[in-house]
Amino acid sequence: MNKELRKAVIAGNWKMNKTPSEAKALIEELKPLVKNASCDVVICVPYVDLAVAIETCKGSNIKVGAQNMHFEKSGAFTGEISAQMLKEIGIEYVIIGHSERRQYFNETDITVNKKVKFVLENNIIPILCVGETLEQREQGITAELVALQIKNALLDITTKQAKKIIIAYEPVWAIGTGKTATCEQANEVNGIIRSTLAKIYDENTANSITIQYGGSMNASNADELLSKEHIDGGLIGGASLKANDFTVIIKAASK
Ligand code: PGA
Repeated sequence: MNKELRKAVIAGNWKMNKTPSEAKALIEELKPLVKNASCDVVICVPYVDLAVAIETCKGSNIKVGAQNMHFEKSGAFTGEISAQMLKEIGIEYVIIGHSERRQYFNETDITVNKKVKFVLENNIIPILCVGETLEQREQGITAELVALQIKNALLDITTKQAKKIIIAYEPVWAIGTGKTATCEQANEVNGIIRSTLAKIYDENTANSITIQYGGSMNASNADELLSKEHIDGGLIGGASLKANDFTVIIKAASK
């Protein structure tokens, strides 16, 4: 982390977990534990939990995000949710292009780019996910692949807009597997992302953008990961479902 240059942001990605009553209980447990955090705290919850999460987080330092949205304003898209709908209920963040959505729901670099544009137009902060699979890492194409994902996702995004984005580097092989990228691997790719941003925009813009790491980040490895220059926070899956573990990570980012 380099808190002089950019914000530290810890975001929980609850994925398809917690009913509304379970969500309320977890947030109530979390609120007193994280109230003194000196990093931004976000929880990205399932659609049906958004309203109760907004209500329960009121007056606290916990912000609420969604995990996906459609790139059109409205229309015949059965089962989808638009950015306007999220905005109206008070959502401040949305995860875009998570690898599970790329893998299971046909999300592509093109739809990711459309979504990033639309989210920004609606004044919601996108948490843009990129990352390589194990095969791609073994082929030695991680750097090119991640740079390409970034370039595609940010096509036609202005410098002013880019400054609002959060990027999450999530190696697919580390998600939910218990395998974490080493601090060096994570910092190296986050650094590649930053130099890609500097090429697309400029050095100052690149230095101001929060780049998280995600993939089996937990209470025991967060401290070391977050001590690295280019790791400005985390996108946390499994460990965000346990108030105590999530709190340890938030404390590590609050140092
Ligand atoms: P994990 O998930 O922490 O459970 O590996 C991270 C993510 O998918 O965002």
